[in-house]
Amino acid sequence: MRPEDFQYLSTMLKQKSGLIVNDQKVYLLESRLMPVARQHNLDGLSGLVEALRRPGSDALVKEVTEAMTTNESFFFRDNTPFDSLKESVLPVMKKSREAKKSLNIWCAAASSGQEPYSISMILKEQEKDWPGWRFNILATDICTKILKKAGEGLYSQFEVQRGLPIQMMMKYFTQEGDLWRISPDIRMMVKYQYLNLLDSLSGLQTFDIVYCRNVLIYFDQETKSQVLFKIRKQMHKDSILYLGAAETVLGISDDFKPVKGQRGMYMPSDGDQTPYQKV
Ligand SMILES: C[S@@+](CC[C@H](N)C(=O)[O-])C[C@H]1O[C@@H](n2cnc3c(N)ncnc32)[C@H](O)[C@@H]1O
Repeated sequence: MRPEDFQYLSTMLKQKSGLIVNDQKVYLLESRLMPVARQHNLDGLSGLVEALRRPGSDALVKEVTEAMTTNESFFFRDNTPFDSLKESVLPVMKKSREAKKSLNIWCAAASSGQEPYSISMILKEQEKDWPGWRFNILATDICTKILKKAGEGLYSQFEVQRGLPIQMMMKYFTQEGDLWRISPDIRMMVKYQYLNLLDSLSGLQTFDIVYCRNVLIYFDQETKSQVLFKIRKQMHKDSILYLGAAETVLGISDDFKPVKGQRGMYMPSDGDQTPYQKV
């Protein structure tokens, strides 16, 4: 790849999605973007960059940005953020939100839907204990292609075998040929929406629980702290934030603090952690 093409693509990707591509990741640009170039009959990555530079290339820019997203996800990923939701967060919030009887949950980089559907299944399992409550689950992502897949709720055998307990699979999925479709009542609990975390988030509501997992890893420090700052503004001071296992707020944001004894769980710095702490 020509250095000027690498420079153009890495600058564009950082600006459009926050993705950092360093020179050790040239292979990633090649493997993800050569198919895009071929599909548009362009002469390799130089041809693609030339096309991106032309005025009116917005659709191609979007396609390239989407092609560079990593959409890996699976049901109940890492277990802890779902176990602690069940064991710590929901029991506390059931009391603290008793007056309004509603919970707003946001999956900020929801990918193919396994994360929001894992949450829906947890809530569905407890339905009878929450009479009169409304659960709003908003699932957003920058990649429209993956949001479409998420909304369809159709998964391969491999995908349903990754992390999903067999009883849940039997209860909430039906087989369609080689694929498995999530049941309509679980699917309808989740609202999908395009959202770029680099954009303003102020049009969103305020959330009680935010899952922003395995997306900050792709950003540089400055972008991470800006995104966390904006997320904090969409939370109450007693709301909960979950980050991925390889992510942290330490050294990045003063807006949040890790919750003692709860891996991957964070709270606004001005919130009272006592109800959630495990010693
Ligand atoms: C590895 S997946 C994580 C999925 C899920 N949260 C999980 O942990 O299993 C990362 C997702 O972040 C999305 N993403 C990347 N940059 C983004 C941005 N700037 N705004 C919103 N979503 C973004 C990608 O499209 C991808 O679906």
